[in-house]
Parts: sequence; C-alpha cells; structure tokens
Amino acid sequence: MQEKIIILDFGSQTTQLIGRRVRELNMYCEIVPYNKFPHSDPSVIGVILSGSPFSVYDEKAFKIELDTIRGKYPILGICYGAQFMAYVNGGTVEPANSREYGRALLTTIDTTNPLLKGIEPGSQVWMSHGDTITSLPEGFNIIASTEQVPVAAYQAQGEKLWGVQFHPEVYHSTCGTQLLRNFVVDICGGKQDWSAASFIESTVAQLKQQLGDDKVVLGLSGGVDSSVAAVLLNKAIGKNLTCIFVDHGMLRKNEFTDVLRDYEVLGLNVIGVDASRKFFSELAGVTDPEKKRKIIGKGFIEVFDEEAHKLSDVKWLGQGTIYPDCIESLSITGTTIKSHHNVGGLPEKMNLKLCEPLRLLFKDEVRAVGRELGMPEHLITRHPFPGPGLAVRILGDITPEKVQILQEADHIFIQGLRDWGLYDKVWQAGVILLPVQSVGVMGDERTYERAVALRAVTSTDAMTADWAHLPYDFLAEVSNKIINTVRGVNRVTYDISSKPPATIEWE
Ligand code: XMP
Repeated sequence: MQEKIIILDFGSQTTQLIGRRVRELNMYCEIVPYNKFPHSDPSVIGVILSGSPFSVYDEKAFKIELDTIRGKYPILGICYGAQFMAYVNGGTVEPANSREYGRALLTTIDTTNPLLKGIEPGSQVWMSHGDTITSLPEGFNIIASTEQVPVAAYQAQGEKLWGVQFHPEVYHSTCGTQLLRNFVVDICGGKQDWSAASFIESTVAQLKQQLGDDKVVLGLSGGVDSSVAAVLLNKAIGKNLTCIFVDHGMLRKNEFTDVLRDYEVLGLNVIGVDASRKFFSELAGVTDPEKKRKIIGKGFIEVFDEEAHKLSDVKWLGQGTIYPDCIESLSITGTTIKSHHNVGGLPEKMNLKLCEPLRLLFKDEVRAVGRELGMPEHLITRHPFPGPGLAVRILGDITPEKVQILQEADHIFIQGLRDWGLYDKVWQAGVILLPVQSVGVMGDERTYERAVALRAVTSTDAMTADWAHLPYDFLAEVSNKIINTVRGVNRVTYDISSKPPATIEWE
C-alpha cells in the first residue's frame, strides 16, 4: 500500500506548492478539499492543514471538526491551519497590527523540538498573513518566534500536533524543506519511497491489471504530458495502444514529421493524420479568437473520432491529464469545482472509459517519469504550446500563406534560443503575426510588409508570467535573420508585457 500524507486544502494559493514540496521529499501526498478527509483510507500517515484566504473568525471561514483527526494522525497546520487549531482550542487570533508579509528571521527556536530539528536560529522564513495568534490555548507551547511574531511555531504539549504561522512550502523559507522533512519523515514515519521508478513500476502493473487485453486509443499533441502517457501505456499494453496525432495545419515548422518520427523511434503504434485542409477551409475568413478555438476543438474531435472508429473494439480513451488538472479547486463559497480535461467532450462523444495514468503527477514529476522511461530530452523539455497552435498567434484571419510566414519566423526564433542556450531558461516562446503592415526600405526599394512580435516569458505555472529579459544581441540577431530571410516581414518587435495584466498568448 502506498502510504500518503493528506493535505487539507482551505483555499490557499500555496496549497499545491505544499504538495510539490512533500513530493520532492519522495513522499506521496494528496490534496483534498478541507471537508473531504478520507477517514476510511488506511494509508494516511499524517495531515497538513493549508492556509486560507479567510480569517478564522470570518463567518464564511472553512472549518473542520478537528477532533475527527486529532490524536489519530500527526498534524501540521500552516498559517490559517495553525491559527484555526489555536482558535478552536481557546486561543486568540486577531488582526495583526501591521500585515506580516515577506521575509522574517526565526530569532528563538526550541531546537530540541522534533519539528525544528536541524534548524538554526536566524533561519529565514516567509510570512504572509493579516491575522496573528496573540495567545495560545492551555497546553500549547511556543517553539519558535520571530521579532514581530511571538508565536511563529507551536506544539500542543504531549501531542503530535504542530502549527507554524510562516510558510515552509515557499522557497524563500530557507529552512522549509528541513521542517517538512522533519514532519513527514521523522514525525509521520514516511518511508520516502515515492520516485519516478517506483511510480512507473506500480503504474505499469496497475494498468496491466486494469486494462487486461482491452484496446486503448490516445490523442498525441507533441507535448510532454500526452507523450509520457503514451510511452507509459505502451510499456504496459504494447500494441493494444493506438495513438493518433492530428496535424491541424497550425503546428510549428516540420513539427508534424519530426514528432511523428520521435514517436516511431519510441516504438509507439501511432497514426499521423494530416487534416490541415479541413481546418484551413473551416477557418477561412474567421477572425474572432474564440470562434477559432471552437472550430479547432470541434474539428479535432471529429477527426479523432473518425480515426478511432476505424479501429475495432476500442474500450478506453487514454489521456495525459496531470494532477493540477484533477485537484478539486475550492471556490470562495466552499463548493468544489472540477477543472476541465484536455480534450473536453471526447470521452462522452465516443462512449469510452477514461484512462489517465498521469493523474497523480505534478508537471516536474511527469518530466522525471519521461526521463526514467528513456524518452529523448527534447521531447521532455519542450515548451508548452497551445492546442489551437499558430491559429491563436495569427491575429485576424488565417491563410496557409500566413501560417507559412509565421512558421519560418518562429523557427528562426526558437532555433536561435536553442543556439544561444536560452531555450531552457524561458518557460515558453513564440512569434505572433500581427495584422499590420508597415513601411520599410530594403536596398533602394520601399517595402510595405508585415510586422511580427517575438514573445518569450518566464513562469512556473503559466498562471503568472514575466517577459523574459533576453540579451539585446540575441534579439538583434533574430530580428535581422527574420527580416532578411522571411519574405513578407519587414519589422520585428519584442513583447514586454507581463501576465497579468496581459496573457501569454495574444488571442
Ligand atoms: P494565456 O495566454 O492564457 O496562456 O496566458 C496560458 C498557457 O496556456 C496555453 N494556452 C492554451 N493551451 N489550448 C491549450 O492547450 C488553448 O486554447 C490555450 N490557450 C492558451 C498558453 O500557451 C500558455 O502556456
């Protein structure tokens, strides 16, 4: 049985980060809404309560019956989690005089406390709260303080119950990993047996059992998630897996053939479908970004469905859904919202059962699994690319000629990033074809041609992003090369907007 830590989500923005940090300790964990604790699951060995946007005394605050878990598992409350446990046991939580936000140093520490083993006084922690614990309940003891926050950490005497008002999961908390390790390993007794290799071994065995001799069809996109899902399924059921890779005509230059070759080398049973004519004709004259997306989404389902129906006896649809897509997120009213699947609508339409072998993994774990499976590095470290592809990077209507211009410019930019060793330093990059023409001069001739925008961003999850501060010399080289070799482009700009308020894609 795979032992696990449960992270009860009270709605904090850093809940997922707690999960990732625990997994980095090779300890399996699951994030569940605060009101969905898996009481009958025997594999739970410890509980972490997350932060929350609410104050404990807020009427709408998310609350649990602490007694249902207290004494049964070691518990660590983080920020709101710590305040909540103090509050419901008779402590006082009040608005802080000044919001406690940002770096702070632990000035006094009880280093004999198992939660704080190996953490030195002076360690930096990250605070982010508007409330603070001003008095602890009877029998709760302070085990660490900062200058501003007397109750930086506490323990209930004689119990495996701790609270910290800072955020150990945030990378700025330099002692955060040590603290989480102390909790997960020393206190909860976690065996740290979660690794890419162990995941592959157990998942392949499970898939064999679950699927037996059934046939599975899976849509490949060229992206890391669907590719790793396919290789994993291939390892489990071999030729009973058929993959379909649809070219909607809006892929990058040579991408369809290059990626198809990669897949074949990996031994996948893959059907490549060139459906570009269908998509070009359906998209002709369409300028509205949402309409473009809808046409491509619907067209993709039609092509996929048609191909899948040519196969006999398929029972399952494989998908590369990953953990962040599956975590039930909390709305502010406390109801849970399921997030969307990659290829919405497909399973219903095709009447297939869903098989999602990566649904427990964070993105960095998907990459680790891909490496462990021997997949080539360029497939694993690929930048994200939107499903509708270059269609949302051509502003205005789409024609094969515009796609070709954009493919050439994009190829120069991406190849340049690789040549300059910058590709892995940015989260995502691409070129946007603008619906403007501008005057230029080439040789003795006046030109009136298109403008493109280069876009490169740094990010950790695409929720927020900053424009990448690429070297001027690099930008100059790319700009020259595009203008000199891509016919129809005479001006290159660089997008320096961050997200928010802009988005990564222009449409
Ligand atoms: P935005 O533009 O919203 O993009 O900042 C965030 C991330 O999502 C990708 N993206 C998409 N991916 N289908 C996808 O599969 C889409 O329609 C789509 N739109 C945006 C975008 O490339 C970025 O990584």
